[in-house]
Amino acid sequence: MPTSEQFWDAIASNYAARPIKNVDAYEKTMERTRLYLKPDDKVLELGCGSGSTALLLSPHVGHIWASDISSRLIEIGRQKAKDQNVTNVEFIHGDIHAPAIEEHAPFNGIWAFNFIHLLEDIPASLERMHKLLKPGGVLISKTACLSGRHGLLRIPITVMQWFGKAPHVSYISAEKLELLMQAQGFEILESCTFPKASEVRFIVARKL
Ligand SMILES: C[S@@+](CC[C@H](N)C(=O)[O-])C[C@H]1O[C@@H](n2cnc3c(N)ncnc32)[C@H](O)[C@@H]1O
Repeated sequence: MPTSEQFWDAIASNYAARPIKNVDAYEKTMERTRLYLKPDDKVLELGCGSGSTALLLSPHVGHIWASDISSRLIEIGRQKAKDQNVTNVEFIHGDIHAPAIEEHAPFNGIWAFNFIHLLEDIPASLERMHKLLKPGGVLISKTACLSGRHGLLRIPITVMQWFGKAPHVSYISAEKLELLMQAQGFEILESCTFPKASEVRFIVARKL
């Protein structure tokens, strides 16, 4: 099986060109996210993909360090920032332990959109996110919570993973994710789905 980096590098061009699947849900996510932003905020985005969200939200904060494990997606993001003349978004290639992330910590906010379910060790990553935030800093996340997919429903993903066509996925419930966040010292400020029946949970958590 390819590593996460190889998987995302291989699909980077197609992924970056893909239109947003659910525009209403995306807009609602951006609307809710903007409520937590301040003009001087220093923000870290994890799993930024090709940087569309960082570039979109860049006028609302001071500076964004947008990071991703895929060097291909980071290249695409840098080019997009250049094309759009955005100067307050810097791209970092690497995972949450990248030295360039450590260098700029602590942050007022961390964004993890469509990201946490892809991690192999969610508790350790949440612990790291907590460390990287200032006290009172906010983790804004959107996570596919796929614990409801039992047995047969997991087969398509498993088969795709065998053929290198799907990344690692953690089948976590929203309730478990919230408990893990609380265990790391976060207070849940909001937790909801758009639309209501979606498996994708928007959770905002503040570092106590
Ligand atoms: C589903 S995409 C989401 C991209 C973007 N946040 C969005 O909402 O469109 C997941 C992203 O996470 C990145 N990724 C996966 N595992 C990662 C890890 N361990 N550390 C950093 N980035 C990772 C992938 O390269 C990919 O760009």
